[in-house]
This record gives sequence, C-alpha cells and structure tokens, in this order.
Amino acid sequence: MKRASIVVALVAFAGAGVALAAEAPPSMTHHRCYVCHSDRQALAGPAFADIAAAYRDTPNAAARIADVIRSGAVGGGPWHMPPHPEISTREAQAMARYILSLDPPPRARAVKQTQ
Ligand code: HEC
Repeated sequence: MKRASIVVALVAFAGAGVALAAEAPPSMTHHRCYVCHSDRQALAGPAFADIAAAYRDTPNAAARIADVIRSGAVGGGPWHMPPHPEISTREAQAMARYILSLDPPPRARAVKQTQ
C-alpha cells in the first residue's frame, strides 16, 4: 500500500516536471518572435538561450527583457529588434521568463563544465 502511494507521488511529480519544463508562450508565435529568433540558434536575432545567458547576472532580468521586448533594440547588427508596444507588460514578462528559463541553472552548468 505504501509502495502504491509512492508510485502515485512519483507520477504526480513527473507530471509537475513536464509542466515546469516551460514551453514558449503561444503569444511568442502569435507575435512572430520565431521569425527572427529561435531558442537555441542565432537567426536574424540572437538565440533566446544566448540572451538568457547574457542576462544571467542582471538584477530584475525578466523586467528588463520585458522592456526590450516592448520598446525594441538597435544594436550593431544589420537587423533590429522591432518594438512591440501592443504586447502588455504582463505578457512581455511571461515571454521574458520563458526566455530566461532557457539558461540552465547553476548546478546543471557546474555538472556540464566538469564533463
Ligand atoms: C524582425 C526580426 C525580429 C523580431 C520579429 C523579433 N526580434 Fe527580438 N531581436 C531581433 C534582433 C535583430 C535582436 C538583436 C538586437 C540588437 O541588439 O541589435 C533582437 C533582440 C532581442 C532580445 C534581446 C535584447 C537584449 O537586450 O539583448 C530579446 C529579449 C528579444 N529580441 C525578444 C523578442 C521577442 C520576445 C520577440 C517577439 C515578440 C522578438 N524578439 C521579435 C530581431 C527580432
């Protein structure tokens, strides 16, 4: 009986894990972010994982990324990040949290570096 409840707990936990392994918010497809970006590869815009790594040590990274999403960015390259004032701050922050989730947490990085 005890074993059965452990199995149930594990299954529930696995389910939660799937929910936590975030998927890009549908609004990112809707607003065509993936025309210029991909999660892991640089296209016209930088890979979202690289953006996450660049913001790794930035305080309030999600809020700052959300600001960039809404106001756009002009860097050195031939492409610019267009402003998206039509995206609410709340939605932009959800996108930013997803982008930041692509940078592995410190423990996973430590394991990777020792390999
Ligand atoms: C027309 C192409 C294009 C589209 C569409 C686009 N981006 Fe970008 N994005 C770029 C480019 C180019 C950069 C790099 C800007 C630079 O620094 O020159 C960028 C940069 C960024 C950055 C990093 C800014 C920083 O501070 O380093 C984020 C975050 C971002 N984009 C998110 C998004 C999201 C979310 C969407 C959808 C709402 C989106 N982008 C749509 C081209 C695009």
